Amino acid sequence: MAAAAPADADHGGQLARRWCAACHIVSPDQTHGADNVPAFATIAKIPGFDADKITKFLMDPHPKMPDMQLGRDEAKDLAAYIVSLAP
Ligand code: HEC
Repeated sequence: MAAAAPADADHGGQLARRWCAACHIVSPDQTHGADNVPAFATIAKIPGFDADKITKFLMDPHPKMPDMQLGRDEAKDLAAYIVSLAP
C-alpha cells in the first residue's frame, strides 16, 4: 500500500453515520442500533482486530452485512475511525 493516501478517520466517521448507523452504534452520541449488532466501540476493543484487519473485513462481503461495495480508501477510512474509538 505504498503511495496510498493516509487514512482519514474524520471521513470514516461521516461514512459510518451514513452507511453503518442503521445497524451499528457508530458514535458515543448514538443511542440505538439494531439488536445483536456490535457497537463500533466494542469492535474497536477486539484483540488483534486492527485497522488492517478491519479494512480487509470491510472489503470482503460479509454474510450478515449488506455488500456495500466499499472502495479501499473508504474501507481504510472507516477502519481508522473504528480503531479511533478504542479507549
Ligand atoms: C444491515 C445491518 C448492518 C449494516 C448496515 C452494517 N453492519 Fe456491520 N455488522 C452487522 C452484523 C449483524 C454484524 C455481526 C456479524 C457477526 O456476528 O457475524 C456486523 C459486524 C461488523 C464488524 C465486526 C465483525 C467482527 O468480526 O466482529 C465490523 C467491523 C462491521 N460490522 C463494520 C461495519 C461497517 C464499517 C459498516 C458500514 C459501512 C457496517 N458494518 C454496516 C450488521 C450490519
